[in-house]
Amino acid sequence: MIRFLLDGQVTEIEAGAQETALHLIRERLGRKGTKEGCGEGDCGACTVLLGQIVEGAVQWRAVNSCILFAPMLDGKALVTVESLGTPESLCAVQGEMVARHGSQCGFCTPGFIMSLEGRARGGLGTVGRPVADVLSGNLCRCTGYGPILDSAAACPPVPRDDGDVRAALAALPRGEGKNWHVPRSADELAALLTQYPDARIVAGATDVGLWVTKQLRDLGRVIFIGDVADLRGIGESEAGVTLGAGVRYSDAWDVLARLHPDLGELVRRIAGTPVRNAGTIGGNIANGSPIGDMPPALIALGATLTLRRGDMRREMALEDYFLAYGKQDRREGEFVEGVFIPRPAPDAVIAITKLSKRFDSDISAVLGAFHLTIEDGVIARARIAFGGMAATPKRAHATEEALIRKAWDEASIEAAIPALSRDYQPLSDVRGSSQYRLAVAGNLLRRLWLAQIGEAVSVLEVGHG
Ligand SMILES: Cc1cc2nc3c(=O)[nH]c(=O)nc-3n(C[C@H](O)[C@H](O)[C@H](O)COP(=O)(O)OP(=O)(O)OC[C@H]3O[C@@H](n4cnc5c(N)ncnc54)[C@H](O)[C@@H]3O)c2cc1C
Ligand code: FES
Ligand code: FES
Repeated sequence: MIRFLLDGQVTEIEAGAQETALHLIRERLGRKGTKEGCGEGDCGACTVLLGQIVEGAVQWRAVNSCILFAPMLDGKALVTVESLGTPESLCAVQGEMVARHGSQCGFCTPGFIMSLEGRARGGLGTVGRPVADVLSGNLCRCTGYGPILDSAAACPPVPRDDGDVRAALAALPRGEGKNWHVPRSADELAALLTQYPDARIVAGATDVGLWVTKQLRDLGRVIFIGDVADLRGIGESEAGVTLGAGVRYSDAWDVLARLHPDLGELVRRIAGTPVRNAGTIGGNIANGSPIGDMPPALIALGATLTLRRGDMRREMALEDYFLAYGKQDRREGEFVEGVFIPRPAPDAVIAITKLSKRFDSDISAVLGAFHLTIEDGVIARARIAFGGMAATPKRAHATEEALIRKAWDEASIEAAIPALSRDYQPLSDVRGSSQYRLAVAGNLLRRLWLAQIGEAVSVLEVGHG
């Protein structure tokens, strides 16, 4: 049984571990305004708002209901497009979209409305962000985005009183299901994993959701960790930044941008707002994809990972976690607890560059992350890691060796580039050929030097080059 608030009413409903929230909303609640476009988090037609109590207040966030599992609604307030206005009395966002012709075929429109409503409520991932970033997870094929952006401009965030929602959320008892669990603490999670070591952990479901909607996989027993409060901690100190495994991209964005601006820019390039509002950095690491964006960036910065089983913890350099394609160093009953990213020296040479076919909401073809320490004009230390170049996110040890103890100049960079082909024999796939990947990896190394002398072209130009 899951319990959530729908338009102020407590709704109780039986739900299986891998029923999607979209299915529940459309087929069981009969709310057909929420659309299914892609079923994989790309188009935004299925966007809904979730409200939950965070630090004593209601936090709203737009998410993709197509890749959200029904038990993840437990304990939340659900807002669908039907919750907002009626044809006779449109809400402010709906009214502006009508007045400015922001809708033609209308299929994408509920999703845009929900993302803009999330912004109007000061929701996660929206405050201080340009509207184009807020809408980066919503696609429209009819209007052109001009009228939609104009509608957004006419609907600035307005302060709200969510006192009633807060009180109702606080009173909701926790749900439970036959084959799923929603622990609230890391201790509870650790105990559950000891009892059910084969259970599937689901954090934001932005990877796992697609296993169900696209690959029709059976998840078995599921432990949803999105409500584990002590996995959602963010610590910022002189030494660096600690992120609990359940920290979402939108939560971590500012702190990562403060650690290094390229990390902030990388978060902006990951998916779109609804995915960033659900997906976690811990999930990105644990998933172990060779084209996950955070691992190479964090490896270059020297991050360490903490894994926990029961009361036992072990730490490892992040690069050691990735053993082979699809194989990580995670033991039975163990979970990723958090990651620590050391603060780089102020004079470190750092660049993190993602190359993908589209700027927004696209997976990397290649991601290069560079972290050099220069002492007296000589490269003293180098940490270089790439995504998209091997079966795992992987350090470029041969290239690093070719650079260390060399003068920090163009000749050293050129001399080191051939070493990349000793580090990597990349695959050819839809995102790029092997030759393309090796060529751009070398160009990213060149770009590091060009940035140093003020001649680097923008990532946008490289991305579309
Ligand atoms: C439209 C779209 C765009 C995307 N764009 C990008 C992109 O640009 N760059 C990118 O890197 N990724 C992208 N992704 C992939 C995905 O969003 C990320 O990998 C995300 O970080 C996964 O986190 P999650 O919390 O959703 O993980 P989940 O899907 O919940 O879990 C992923 C895996 O990690 C495991 N897991 C999760 N948490 C833990 C834990 N604490 N301990 C142990 N195991 C755990 C799960 O069991 C599962 O195997 C995109 C996905 C979508 C749908
Ligand atoms: S249906 Fe396309 S993002 Fe959900
Ligand atoms: S109005 Fe048709 S896709 Fe946006």
